[in-house]
Parts: sequence; structure tokens; C-alpha cells
Amino acid sequence: MKNAREAQTAILRLKEEIEHHNRRYYELDEPVIDDESYDRMMRELQELERAYPEFASPDSPTKRVGGKPLDLFEKWTHTVPMLSLANVFNGAELAEFHQRVLKSLDVEEREVEYVLEPKMDGLAIELEYENGLLVRASTRGDGKVGELVTENVRTVGDIPLKLNPAPVPGDLFSSVPPKYLNVRGEIFMNIAGLENLNRQRLDNGEPPFANPRNAAAGSIRQLDSKVAASRPLRFMPYALGDALGLTLSNQMDFLGKMAELGFRKNDLARRVNSFEAIEAYYEELLELRENLPFEIDGMVIKVNDFGLQKRLGNIAKSPRWAIAYKFPAQEKTTVVEDIQIQVGRTGALTPVAHLRPVQVGGVEVRRATLHNQDEIRRKDVRVGDTVWIRRAGDVIPEVVRVVPENRAPDALPYEIPTTCPSCGSNTMREEDEAAVRCPNRDCPSQILESIRHYVSKGAMDIDGLGKKTVEMLLERGLIVSLADLYSLKTDLLAEQEGLGEKSAEKLLNSIENSKTRPLNRFIFALGIRHVGEHTAEILAEEFGSLEKLQAATEEELTAIHEIGAVVAASVRGFFAEPRNARLLEALFNAGVAPSFVEKTQGEDSFFSGKTFVVTGGFSLGSRREIESLIKERGGKCSASVSRKTDFVLAGEAPGSKLKKARDLGVPTLNEKEFTEKLERSNS
Ligand code: IVH
Repeated sequence: MKNAREAQTAILRLKEEIEHHNRRYYELDEPVIDDESYDRMMRELQELERAYPEFASPDSPTKRVGGKPLDLFEKWTHTVPMLSLANVFNGAELAEFHQRVLKSLDVEEREVEYVLEPKMDGLAIELEYENGLLVRASTRGDGKVGELVTENVRTVGDIPLKLNPAPVPGDLFSSVPPKYLNVRGEIFMNIAGLENLNRQRLDNGEPPFANPRNAAAGSIRQLDSKVAASRPLRFMPYALGDALGLTLSNQMDFLGKMAELGFRKNDLARRVNSFEAIEAYYEELLELRENLPFEIDGMVIKVNDFGLQKRLGNIAKSPRWAIAYKFPAQEKTTVVEDIQIQVGRTGALTPVAHLRPVQVGGVEVRRATLHNQDEIRRKDVRVGDTVWIRRAGDVIPEVVRVVPENRAPDALPYEIPTTCPSCGSNTMREEDEAAVRCPNRDCPSQILESIRHYVSKGAMDIDGLGKKTVEMLLERGLIVSLADLYSLKTDLLAEQEGLGEKSAEKLLNSIENSKTRPLNRFIFALGIRHVGEHTAEILAEEFGSLEKLQAATEEELTAIHEIGAVVAASVRGFFAEPRNARLLEALFNAGVAPSFVEKTQGEDSFFSGKTFVVTGGFSLGSRREIESLIKERGGKCSASVSRKTDFVLAGEAPGSKLKKARDLGVPTLNEKEFTEKLERSNS
């Protein structure tokens, strides 16, 4: 036990440290420590304050719910404070919570019902509806005052702008929406959506989001709602703030009612009445977690009955009737054995930490990107350091921070080399850029990576050309540049070790088929800096042919909606380079002739005029919602599968329609493929 002086110093130090992390987490959306360490600090502070109440100041972080709101948005005072949850980390702590509940209510085991819900990893939002219309949305902020983010929240597909009418109690014939509804829930992002977004961000030279929470928070706190609209955000309601004209007596009814009113149904909520059942469902969720389309970081346990909730009441920061049972962190420590440089297709040198292999969240991690020199400097990662590794869902593992206590005294700060490890050219860094680049366009790594990009799935989609094969073709001099792919011959290929006649033929077929890929894919495949899939689509749509795009001036390019000066300069710069002009000529001479079908206004080339049958369950929304997404894009929907059906869109547990599609040879799409088509058509 500390003496009073030590306790006072420790309290001050902890307060300062926690405030710092609160700012990183709540205001900057850039946490630098894992939740477990944060919680540990918070508990330590709580314990010290309990032992030495004379040093517990009213502004202590233990008395506040979250961070101060940023100044960017208008403030909003919540009519009912938005509370946070206390955490438990093991069965014993959970048992204490359960015993406290039983004791406070003076009831026996099994007399209390709990609702168990997944704890979504996103951003808490309050929605207010008046006469069924969404009038306001706010962030939690410090629990009392949040920020108004109504316009951005309106762009979230899961959030009804208008509630479905609910029957009036005692009146069988009327059905009106509640007069007032204040509902709280989590805005979050699916893992696949986050991966897609991060790919685009990397394409555009922006840093990726470390986890779905930061991505959701970053998207909602955008000043431009168009940005929020372009992000695949979702919403799950979890708590009632207040209501008029709607009587609800427990959490389970609340969840059911929300689904009736038009919110997404929470299929993972369970009602239980024993401690064993809580523990069993925790284990179940822990297993489900790996396969859920979104990130969850624990289970929330809530007393079901609102009357009992009221009797239990709240302590300063959180309710006494609910608790979060956190999952073990998807974070581990390991050692950086080496830092190696990867040279990308645009010449950017990316430092990658090679790690002592470690299991994080059930997956072995051996490598983690360090992004660029600024990131390395910020985190001060050195070879030999012990570091925290974080893996959020399927997202690329990240080095969160160094454990400085374990650093060897002779460890030197890491500097990205001044020469390219692939070709030896002197590297350079442009003033306004984070990346250090190799300027040599003939750099073997750049050629390899640009060919890999050209043949990749979203680009020309040439099957059978993995990294090893491209490397082999380059090493043996069978190709020197991209265009040479089109003059490869079967016999020469078939002679190569590890290929054989069959795969050589397949590969050539696939190369041949790529000649007429759509123009947008071809533009994307060229690997022009700042031109990701979405920009490539805009350019294809606008110009209709590569010749026209080639001839476009910077003014013409910047005049296009969504194309800014940086993209315009990059496109111009690409076509102005003689070597690129030569490459294009060689590709055209080899027979590459990208196809282009003009879109009719308001319709999309993929969906328009096609007939879809939608079957099974989707995390994206109800079947009806999916159908309207298709119809909005010019497609048609039908209930039964026939030869005339263009696509069967099959969600979870699709049943006989999928079988029929297979029998008739009707192509099928799964939810992921469908989402990709949707995202492409959202231009
Ligand atoms: S209930 C008064 N339920 O976790 C109770 N919260 O650490 C308010 N969260 O601020 C919260 N999933 O942002 C509740 N099923 C769930 C949740 C959930 C995620 C978040 C929420 C809250 C934070 C507390």
C-alpha cells in the first residue's frame, strides 16, 4: 500500500495519463493504447481515490463518461445523460456483479432475467424522433453534452428517417408512430467494408483506419456528409433513452419494438435467467465472433425489466443494472526481429516489421506494416523492440506501441534507407508527402508490383498469374514489361518449370480474355497514382475511351465532379510521360481494346435491365431493402427463379432457390459480391 504522498503523486500522474488517452480516443479517434491497459489505469485510479478520498478531485476522469466534444460541431445537451458501462474481464468479476444485483434487489437466483447482447465496437449515437421523423442525432461526448451530427447520421442506411407506424395501445384501428422516441445505439462498420475503405485510402496515399471503431467515428465526424454517405456504416439500437406514446416494460420488448419500427433486428440478443446461461452465451459469442461480419469486443449483460433497472439505479458513470463482459484483447506483445522495405508499384518504400510469430485473436501474425517514416518516428519502433500488436477482425495487423522498458540500450532509431533496396537508386521524399520513393521507373520491384496490380482481381483479373509466376516470367526474361504478357506463347510457357501445358494454356486464355475488360478496370489497372477503382470509374464514364482520357487537359479533368487538382495532375503526368505513351501503344498493338457501354441516366450498367431473385438473409438489410437497392439502380426483382433470371442473390440459409439457380445454370452472387457491385454503382 502506498503512503499518502505516494498516493497523491500516483493519482496526479494517472489523471494526466488518462486525460491524455481520453483525448486520443474520444477527440482524435487515434488511441495509442489497448483497452485493457486503459481500463487497468482507470481501476488503479479508482482504487487510489477510494483509499484516499481527500485527493479525489471533482474533475477526475473517473467522474466523467468520455471525452470533451470537439469544437467542429454544434453542441447538444442530452435530455437524459448517456451513460457508459463498467467492465468485467473474468467469470469471478461477473459473479460479483450478479451477486450485487441479487443482493440489491433482495431476490433469489433465477428471479432476475438478463438480456445478453453483443458489445459492438463502434460509436455511441443518440437518435431522436418526433412524430416518427428523425429530427436529431448526437454523439455521446462527455455523456452530458455531445455533438450534433444529424446530417451525417442521416446517410446511414440502417437508420430509418421515418419510423414505421406502431399500433396505438387500446385502439385496434389506429396506427401512428410514437410522439417522441429517443433511442441509443452503436454506429459501426462491417469488417469487409473497413477493408475496402482501407484499400481505397492506401490507394489515395491516406493512412488506413486501425479498427472499425476509428473508422466509424472518423466517418461520423466528417464535416462533409458526402464522405459519411460513401462509408459503409451500420447501426444497431441498444438502449431506450426516453419515449412518449410508446410503453415498454423491458429490454427484450424494446429490441422487438425497434425492429417493428424499422431498425435492424438484433438477432444475437438472448434472454436468460441464470449465471450459467450467461457464461455459456459468453463462450458461444466468443466463438461466433471470428465469423461475424462486424467486430465485437465483448458481451453486454442487462437486467431485462425496466422497473428493476430503475430500482438498481446508476452510479456516477454507469448503470448498476448492466455490465460489459469484455473479450480477451486482440492484442499481444512480441519482438521486432527486423524491419524490411517493400517497394510498391508507385515506388513508395514501405517499412514492414518482421515479427517473432505470435497468435493474435486466433491468427498467427508474422508481419505488420509500419506505413512510413513519420509513423516509425511517431511510435519510435526500433529493431529488437518489444511491441504491442493489434489485429482488428481481418484488418492488417498493426504495431500499436513500443514497450520502452524492454529496449536494448544500443537499439538505434530506424531510418528508411536513402537508396532503393531493389535497384539502388537514390530515394526521394516530396515535401507534402509521407512516403519516400524510388524515382527509377525501371526499378525491378516497381515493374513486378505494377504487373501484379495490372493482373489483380479488381483490375484486369488475369487468373493464374500469382506473385511467384510473375517473378519467374521476369527473372527468366520471358517478359520485360506489361505489354509482353500479350505475346507469351504456349510452348515456351509450358516448358517452364512448375507450369505444364494445361496451366500454360489456361493462363494464355485468361490473358486473351483480359483484352476486352471494361474501360474503368483498364484505367484502374494502369496504376496511375491517386486513381483507385472509384476514380477510374468516374474517368471511364466521363471520357468513354482511353484516347479521350489521354487527350484531356488538367482543366477538363478538374471540371469533373469528385476529381480534384491532385488527381488531375497525376493523370496528366501519367499520360505525359513518353514511357507510358509507349506502353499504351504496345498494349493497343497487342490487341488490348477495353470495352465501354454508356450508362443511361440514373441507371447502372451492372444492374440495369437485369432480373434478380433475392433469397436468404443479409446483414446489409431486409430482403425488401435489398430489392429496393436493386430497383433504384434500374434492376428488376422477381420471386421465382427461371431461365430468364439474370442473377440469384443468395444470403444466409438461401434454401431451394439457390439450388434451382444452380440446376438451371443461373449465375449467383453472395452478399460480398453484391456489396462490391453496389459500391461500384454508387457513383
Ligand atoms: S448499453 C446505459 N449495449 O459500449 C447503457 N452499449 O462501454 C448504455 N456498446 O457507450 C450502453 N454495444 O457505445 C450498450 N449492446 C450494447 C452495446 C453498447 C456497444 C457501447 C456503447 C457504450 C459503450 C460502453
